[in-house]
Amino acid sequence: MQTATISFDRFNSLADNDAGERIRTAKAKLGKDVVLLCHHYQRADVYVHADITGDSLKLSRLASQAEAKHIVFCGVHFMAEVADILSRPEQISILPDLAAGCSMADMASLAKVERAWRELGAVLDPDQKVTPVTYINSAADLKAFCGAHGGIVCTSSNAPKILEWSFKQREKVLFFPDQHLGRWSGYKMGIPLDEMVIWNPDLEQGGLTKEQIEKAKIILWHGYCSVHQMFQPRDIIKFRNQYPDGIVISHPECSFEVCKQSDYIGSTEYILKTVKEGAPNTRWLVGTELNLVERLAQEVKHEGKTVQFMAGTICMCSTMQRIDPQHLAWTLENLVEGKVVNQISVPEHEAKLAKISLQRMLDVS
Ligand code: 13P
Ligand code: SF4
Repeated sequence: MQTATISFDRFNSLADNDAGERIRTAKAKLGKDVVLLCHHYQRADVYVHADITGDSLKLSRLASQAEAKHIVFCGVHFMAEVADILSRPEQISILPDLAAGCSMADMASLAKVERAWRELGAVLDPDQKVTPVTYINSAADLKAFCGAHGGIVCTSSNAPKILEWSFKQREKVLFFPDQHLGRWSGYKMGIPLDEMVIWNPDLEQGGLTKEQIEKAKIILWHGYCSVHQMFQPRDIIKFRNQYPDGIVISHPECSFEVCKQSDYIGSTEYILKTVKEGAPNTRWLVGTELNLVERLAQEVKHEGKTVQFMAGTICMCSTMQRIDPQHLAWTLENLVEGKVVNQISVPEHEAKLAKISLQRMLDVS
């Protein structure tokens, strides 16, 4: 007889330490049946349980190679979707808290992108002239849209390479949802700023004239990350005035002005690697999420390196924070009982098309 899953109510009031103990016990019981993939923005008391940590590109690759039956994704919804799409059919992708979304991913919906495609059609034939590129921070149906329209997925670590591929296919790119990653990557390729225009999905024809669309090389979706938009050029100026030898490193989701004033730009994995490989006794200003920065600061302290967070205020990714030890313990104890909670399952027809655009990305990068 099928028994019910264990209710989360029993875990809600668990102390963090107790939840941590139960995670360890459940993981030991599950052994090779489970793998915990963990994004670098996860809180310390979740990160400590990870089997594999990484940025979006690394985690996508490793999800596609995972052997375990259950892939528990400590990250956000689109990451668990990618794991489901790229893993084998018998594997199960799980997100410990379904409320862990990405506000930037929510800024582009399939209905709005399809409308943009139709409206672009009044000026040019998008299927002949435009490669759709979606940042991996997007829903599976948008990846499927790209798969169906000769497009591709990119991450923060491969966006310029993906743009190069895209321009070999067609003369223009529609880039969604993150305008900043698109603009910075286009700029690095030498595309003039006035050939990158913003498509505002709430306005007719994106708020653009026929001439603007015809002239544009990249049409950037009006999307952004609410965490990375907190970092300001004034934070960098202040740091440089105080520490003229200091080094500034930022994520490409930051604004163009912040990226321009930074010494290094790259994904979360790149930021960690660059600072860890930096010379002893150096001082760094880091423009990305606080959990990563605080952990990094601790890890390099013994080499005399100082790591400082770019913003004056606390800015964490509140949705990444939804994955807490209580939800992780609940998920794993259910697995021990043979129950699956919070499975992320992309419908087959959508997964098939999304896999095309993801596979193109993995092949190109
Ligand atoms: P990375 O691919 O660099 O880890 O970025 C993911 C993300 O959501 C950053 O906000
Ligand atoms: Fe999304 Fe920004 Fe959080 Fe990254 S930091 S998951 S882009 S809301």
